[in-house]
Amino acid sequence: MRKLITLLLITVLIVSCVNNSEKETFINDLLSQMTLDEKIGQMNQYNGFWDATGPMPEGEYQKARYRDLKNGLVGSMLNVTGVDNVRALQKIAVEETRLGIPLIFAFDVIHGYETISPIPLAESASWDLEAIEKSARVAAIEASAAGLNWTFAPMVDISRDARWGRVMEGAGEDPFLGSLIAKARVKGFQGDDLSAFNTIAACAKHFASYGFAEAGRDYNTADTNEYTLFNTILPPFKAAVDAGVSTFMNSFNTVDEIPATGSTFLQRDILKGEWGFNGFVVSDWGSIGEMIPHGYARDGAHAAEIAANAGSDMDMESSLYVRKLNELVTSGKVDISIVDDAVSRILGVKYDLGLFDDPYKYCNKEREKEIIGSKENQEAVLDIARKSIVLLKNENQLLPLKKNNQTIAVIGQLANDKNSSIGNWRGRGIANSAISVLEGLKSYEGNKLIYKKGVDVYYGDTNFFTRLDINYSDRSGFNQARLAAKSSDVVIMVLGEEGFQTGEGRSRTNLLLPGLQQELLEEVYKVNKNVVLVLVNGRPLNISWADENIPAIVEAWQLGSQAGNAIAQVLYGDYNPSGKLTMSFPRNVGQVPIYYNYKNTGRPSKSQKTVTASAYSDVENSPLYPFGYGLSYTSFDYSDLKISSDSMNVNQSIIVSVTVANSGKYKGKEVVQLYTRDLYGSLTRPLKELKGFKMVELEPGESKTVNFTIDNSLLKYYTVNKKWESESGDFNVYIGGDSNVEIFKKFKLID
Ligand code: BGC
Repeated sequence: MRKLITLLLITVLIVSCVNNSEKETFINDLLSQMTLDEKIGQMNQYNGFWDATGPMPEGEYQKARYRDLKNGLVGSMLNVTGVDNVRALQKIAVEETRLGIPLIFAFDVIHGYETISPIPLAESASWDLEAIEKSARVAAIEASAAGLNWTFAPMVDISRDARWGRVMEGAGEDPFLGSLIAKARVKGFQGDDLSAFNTIAACAKHFASYGFAEAGRDYNTADTNEYTLFNTILPPFKAAVDAGVSTFMNSFNTVDEIPATGSTFLQRDILKGEWGFNGFVVSDWGSIGEMIPHGYARDGAHAAEIAANAGSDMDMESSLYVRKLNELVTSGKVDISIVDDAVSRILGVKYDLGLFDDPYKYCNKEREKEIIGSKENQEAVLDIARKSIVLLKNENQLLPLKKNNQTIAVIGQLANDKNSSIGNWRGRGIANSAISVLEGLKSYEGNKLIYKKGVDVYYGDTNFFTRLDINYSDRSGFNQARLAAKSSDVVIMVLGEEGFQTGEGRSRTNLLLPGLQQELLEEVYKVNKNVVLVLVNGRPLNISWADENIPAIVEAWQLGSQAGNAIAQVLYGDYNPSGKLTMSFPRNVGQVPIYYNYKNTGRPSKSQKTVTASAYSDVENSPLYPFGYGLSYTSFDYSDLKISSDSMNVNQSIIVSVTVANSGKYKGKEVVQLYTRDLYGSLTRPLKELKGFKMVELEPGESKTVNFTIDNSLLKYYTVNKKWESESGDFNVYIGGDSNVEIFKKFKLID
């Protein structure tokens, strides 16, 4: 048997070497035929510039771009979607340019193409890696059926700041969970075989520190020290490389005072050097040119020189490579080997996708018609939507709702909104196509529903480019909402953020429910205490008042196409919620940035009353809801924490176990979480770090023992020696249902 396995391994190795050398030969051969301009063309990415199936482009700008395309000066297009459009442009590249090199077509397929999954932050709350992978798979299947072969996802930026609107696109605040989710998403998009017709190249973005924008203001300076960079920000990027991600995108911000787009340290030393990444790096939109306002480049030529030398392989939409790189190479400011390396990487990804075998492989009209929006895809996104919901509070078992003979007031503009749940970065998600909460609730017929909007959160149309016009003055619907609430058994209030209120450029300094929604909530509560607050939003909000007063709170995020069905199934108990937060919810915005894996400081606070400890005078340090937190309709008890040994060396491991019992009335799932604390080190260490988790499903009365193995790899971090290593010393280990868990065992790592 062993012989057979060895033989198989050798065969696989030989085949992959032959394939690799075939690929290398192909690329080198192609490279040798290319003029300098054609090479630079591969490094140029343009936004879709005309309706490809319509008339010829008009206007000077359009015509110039069309000429570039015909002259082989474009390597990739973004935002061109649909088989007809993609085919039309690909045809020009393949049939009209001298060498016929196919284009690679990119699009932001972040949480679905047309069938929309929950926003990524919501999905991360499922802690269900299989479901997350499946969601990316569905997105890839639909995108590839629409002619696309490259998505600008996953965004793997860690963020601790809910003011930053792009937290909706990430996996929350934790690098361990973030790394596993990064892997799952890359795998979902790329599958096992990138050359298959239904897989697409993924892109880990934004490299790096973009999620640490100061004060949560998008695009702002990020001031992260080397250790935060290595221990917190980079792990998910490294995980994406390990999962075989084909491309990276750099970021708009500075890192160590240098724009990431111009950072040799990040792109050459770390990514392509230390990590051995052999895909290519695309700039973020216009970020090469933005090095001028950053005050880092003198002019366009200088910006192109810096970016190319630093390892930005493809220029998204600043046109600086196509305009300036030839002269920079001729004058020796950029070595031709830099260009050759970038082009080889880009051609390499095109090769892996199989575009040289068949440039139209993603252009199948029948597939496009059959696959996009299919029933199967809708079912898949419903599944992940249910799993993403987090139950934050449920006093007196107000939930699940009774299915019959109840009068239920449903209040809030967002309850009747078919658009917000599609969220931002919605691909080609169709406006107003989500199942609304009201529609979901109506599919249960045993109760009487009374819907009242109560208040407009915002006015007018919403889209990616405009700021919302929020209502701060019109309370004319309050009275009707109060009347409906008064005559009902239960009130479901659906409040939160409109779909375009989070995402790029959507920073906020206030995390309260926008507009007059908080006021409406308080008014309704005065007349009926049985309120279930359903939050539809894209980031942690300040809901301290609701936590104190409202008996039941459900975090339902922006859940995508099937939002209303998922929410109704959870409210009625046909799905028992199992989600857990992946970002801490602050008590108020002044606590932000807030995260569970903080440092103890030299003056940890035990009581707010102690003035000389690290505390606030007006609010306690802890978040309202911590990382890892989420309830179920049933309850889980943890007992019998055991550790197999109180010491280990670097070659050994220990087993930690706990008994989890379902002590409630419903069958339910629990995410059992393992945390460690390294009590001292060559650098100060976080109070807790997530090191593992397991999902268990238990019938009422059932219990299970859950085991975790701790080995040396889990104890490593980027130390003062600037390497990943463990350090001997004392550790605590905790297992529980959220990051607040306090019971622990101790062990020693010995030399
Ligand atoms: C965003 C990227 C996105 C790109 C292309 C930029 O503004 O930062 O995340 O992929 O636009 O749409």
